[in-house]
Amino acid sequence: MTVDPPIHLATPGDAGRIAALSRDLIEHGLPWTWRPARVLRSIRDPETNVAVVRQDGDLAGFGIMEYLDQDSHLVLFAVRAASQRRGLGSALLRWLEASAIAAGAQRIRLDARRDNVAGRSFYNEHGYHELGIRPGRYGGAIDGIRLEKWLRPSDVA
Ligand SMILES: CC(C)(COP(=O)(O)OP(=O)(O)OC[C@H]1O[C@@H](n2cnc3c(N)ncnc32)[C@H](O)[C@@H]1OP(=O)(O)O)[C@@H](O)C(=O)NCCC(=O)NCCS
Repeated sequence: MTVDPPIHLATPGDAGRIAALSRDLIEHGLPWTWRPARVLRSIRDPETNVAVVRQDGDLAGFGIMEYLDQDSHLVLFAVRAASQRRGLGSALLRWLEASAIAAGAQRIRLDARRDNVAGRSFYNEHGYHELGIRPGRYGGAIDGIRLEKWLRPSDVA
């Protein structure tokens, strides 16, 4: 049996490392918008969970999830290159999904870069389906893909 590594809520001291991972792994080729101050606002926002996983004393991965009424939005998510393909991303995602269910969310939505084959494969593996292309979603030049996963049946009859 595989046991998930411990997942924790981020502390203010994690903001710089999370912002750097976003710059290098998610926002590469685009203006850097998730700078430490913005990450810090998310960490302090009661409607947002910033979850982290650590390895060898360093922050190895993180996920930022916002709770918006019935929907949760996975805003930012990454595992550092040296720790990928070891199940850390899956553990983080399971934790965030469990939090969303506990918060009463009925689905999780997220956007990924269309050219992000690894990310799309990862989310597909976890039961997210692709809703459609969002042309120019990233900086006008890079297309996005919207994905979603239903956590429970829709309230609408
Ligand atoms: C996408 C990402 C978060 C996955 O994290 P991870 O810790 O490596 O994921 P896991 O080890 O839990 O992988 C679970 C499954 O997802 C799929 N997967 C993960 N990385 C993959 C890759 N590079 N290529 C193809 N499939 C992949 C596989 O099915 C994998 O299972 P397997 O290793 O048994 O084959 C990580 O690659 C990452 O941070 N990438 C850069 C940032 C990013 O793309 N963020 C998400 C979109 S915003």
